[in-house]
Amino acid sequence: MLLKNILVCQLASLVVATPLGFDSSTLPSLVAKIGHASWDIEGFAKDNPIGVTTGGAGGKKVTVTSAEDLVAAATGHEPAIIYIKGDITLPERLFIGSNKSLIGVGKTAHIHQNGLTVRHVDNVIIRNVKISRIEDNDGITLQNSTRVWVDHNEFESDISTGPDFYDGALDIIRASDWITVSWNYFHNHYKNNLIGNDDTFRDIDSGHLHVTFHHNRYENCGTRGPAGRFGHQHVYNNYYEDFHYQALHSRSDNQMLVEGNVFRGDTREALSTYGLVIPEDSPNTCVCGDEELDGFANLGARNDWGPAGVNITQVGNFTDAGYKYKLTPLLLVKPVAKLAAGVGKI
Ligand SMILES: *[C@@H]1O[C@H](CO)[C@@H](O)[C@H](O)[C@H]1NC(C)=O
Ligand SMILES: *[C@@H]1O[C@H](CO)[C@@H](O)[C@H](O)[C@H]1NC(C)=O
Ligand SMILES: *[C@@H]1O[C@H](CO)[C@@H](O)[C@H](O)[C@H]1NC(C)=O
Ligand SMILES: *[C@@H]1O[C@H](CO)[C@@H](O)[C@H](O)[C@H]1NC(C)=O
Repeated sequence: MLLKNILVCQLASLVVATPLGFDSSTLPSLVAKIGHASWDIEGFAKDNPIGVTTGGAGGKKVTVTSAEDLVAAATGHEPAIIYIKGDITLPERLFIGSNKSLIGVGKTAHIHQNGLTVRHVDNVIIRNVKISRIEDNDGITLQNSTRVWVDHNEFESDISTGPDFYDGALDIIRASDWITVSWNYFHNHYKNNLIGNDDTFRDIDSGHLHVTFHHNRYENCGTRGPAGRFGHQHVYNNYYEDFHYQALHSRSDNQMLVEGNVFRGDTREALSTYGLVIPEDSPNTCVCGDEELDGFANLGARNDWGPAGVNITQVGNFTDAGYKYKLTPLLLVKPVAKLAAGVGKI
């Protein structure tokens, strides 16, 4: 308790130290110093056999304020850094080309009506953008794509309409690989992150779907934070509050390395490798749930499960992510996530 108080006080005093309220420019150093966390790219999008994800680095820089300009800038494979300002209502899904960085300006970048698809491409960065209430489809879909960093975004809808009114917040499918999902704020959303979307794609997906999830903040969610099939996910230092039904689900031979996460509030199950797709998720064949093969989980640094359940039916062999990363002390995972995840922080 003493250590916790000291650390939280240090964090709090640094935050209030700025005279005119909170200055987000101090966040990166704060988070690095006290939170022992990486602000820069870390995980599979950084360390992988193809090379670090750079997005549009070195390309032209353009600021867009309309859907039309955003679509024009994000299409094609020439490197480009695209700064997004204000509300953008997309008339249809935006297919982002290779070698692109999409970066929201300030706290205002907000995508409405249709979401983003990263399909058949390589090397994309999406940061500091809010995406909300995309009906009947995902906020962001990564499909058959490599090297994507999804960082400091906000995803929101409404869970009262059940699992299928909105689809995934951010789903990663069809052999996508070398992805990092960091510092995002997922809230009021039912089905959050599905990795490998169908049991019939076993052959295509197996050996791919390497995804790092770190320092994301989940609040008032239903399922899939994430749920993985056929791949490898390293899930560390995420904070879950009121993740009602099931947060982490490793199924269909998927391997998950789970460490340093914190679960609070009304969260029934923090982690399961039992193959059953629970009735509260979105089973396709039976109201009692879909039967799938079990997955695997390995536990690294200690997690704080709170009152949530854990059901590990198979311990796997994914004991080492194979790269260097920083682990936030468990006691600081909640305050650091609340302080630094989401938009308006970079
Ligand atoms: C992305 O950019 C790199 C470097 O400019 C280039 O070699 C590569 O072909 C581009 N990717 C695509 C899919 O065009
Ligand atoms: C996946 O994307 C690559 C381009 O990166 C393309 O050549 C290939 O055909 C795509 N595969 C599928 C199954 O669509
Ligand atoms: C945990 O997994 C076992 C299968 O090994 C299953 O019988 C049991 O119902 C599961 N528990 C929960 C709470 O889902
Ligand atoms: C890890 O376990 C899986 C499932 O049992 C197996 O298919 C795979 O070959 C193992 N990998 C290594 C490196 O042992």
